[in-house]
Amino acid sequence: MINLIIEDRHGARQPVEIPEGINLSLMEVLKASEYDVLATCGGMALCATCHVQVLGGPEQYFHATDNELDMLDTLPNADEHSRLACQMRVTEEMDGLVVRLK
Ligand code: FES
Repeated sequence: MINLIIEDRHGARQPVEIPEGINLSLMEVLKASEYDVLATCGGMALCATCHVQVLGGPEQYFHATDNELDMLDTLPNADEHSRLACQMRVTEEMDGLVVRLK
């Protein structure tokens, strides 16, 4: 199992367990877990409604890719640990990740 901790927009944290080999993005997992993520662009890195902030876990998830930065740079509330959840593929390496919905 891949264990994530999700903090909602009210500051409440919940563990989410995801089976390995699921081949979904973090955005898709958040939607499937009933989190309020619009994902208007369907995961194309174009809408930023899947904005999350990485709070803890494996180092490689803390920094956005150039593709994400094009969109994140337009947001007033983005910081250096902001990511687009649709661009984060859920794999075993993600185990222990803590993210906050923005
Ligand atoms: S779903 Fe639109 S940017 Fe992630």
